[in-house]
Amino acid sequence: MNHDDFNTAAADFPDPFRLLVRESVTSTNDELRILAQGGARHGLILLAEVQSAGRGRRGTAWFSPTGKSLAFSILLRPEAPKSLWPRYSLASGLAVAEAIESCGLAAGIKWPNDVWIGRRKVAGILVEAATDFVVIGIGLNVSSTSLPPELAEIATSLEMEGSRSLSRAAVLSAVICRFGIRCRQIDQEFGEVLMAVRQRCVLSGNQISLVTPSGPKTGLVEGIADGGELLFRTDTGVERLIQADELRLLAP
Ligand code: BTN
Repeated sequence: MNHDDFNTAAADFPDPFRLLVRESVTSTNDELRILAQGGARHGLILLAEVQSAGRGRRGTAWFSPTGKSLAFSILLRPEAPKSLWPRYSLASGLAVAEAIESCGLAAGIKWPNDVWIGRRKVAGILVEAATDFVVIGIGLNVSSTSLPPELAEIATSLEMEGSRSLSRAAVLSAVICRFGIRCRQIDQEFGEVLMAVRQRCVLSGNQISLVTPSGPKTGLVEGIADGGELLFRTDTGVERLIQADELRLLAP
């Protein structure tokens, strides 16, 4: 496949972002981690047309249709203290949501960083930290017009939501542009990120079910705390969740 469009778009990426395009990898997160361990610098983005072992959170397989989706990972070597790195999770979901909005669609964030259009997921993010770097993997469905039956009810693409003829390179540029802005706010200006995430949070005010280290629970989401945790009310009080599995929005 010709990668000219991606390389042309990358020429205008803001500093420090640089793009490396590969035709086929196992997982861009895995390959970028290897490059990072070999000394790759802050801001390197690895994009692949095909992932033979693309991964979602909790080790699930990630479906990224060739030529119709974006699958890429961003290497950061943050100056911010490691205690603040979980904030990249919110910042990256926000950047994707904002990029989608720049294509004329309304996007929501399902805490911490799934991106939804309506009630369907259009993008997923896998943040993996090592001792001295973070890899942020982003999968975004751009132009699929149909999905496998098992995903049809829960996933979508920008094109299925009405955005016609989008170039994947343009969508990538929009994400990187917003990502650069939001990453600079990770420390002193995190309030700006939080405010924008709260505006798009699809869980706030809704009943959800989830699995926590102490077992499955249902309750009401009251919002997102100043540290980025989910404020979750159950019969026993309000918990601040830093992570949760199998988080589902319950029908009203
Ligand atoms: C999720 O929602 O479960 C996260 C999905 C993350 C998928 C992306 S695609 C690019 C990068 N490489 C991977 O193997 N996973 C992430």
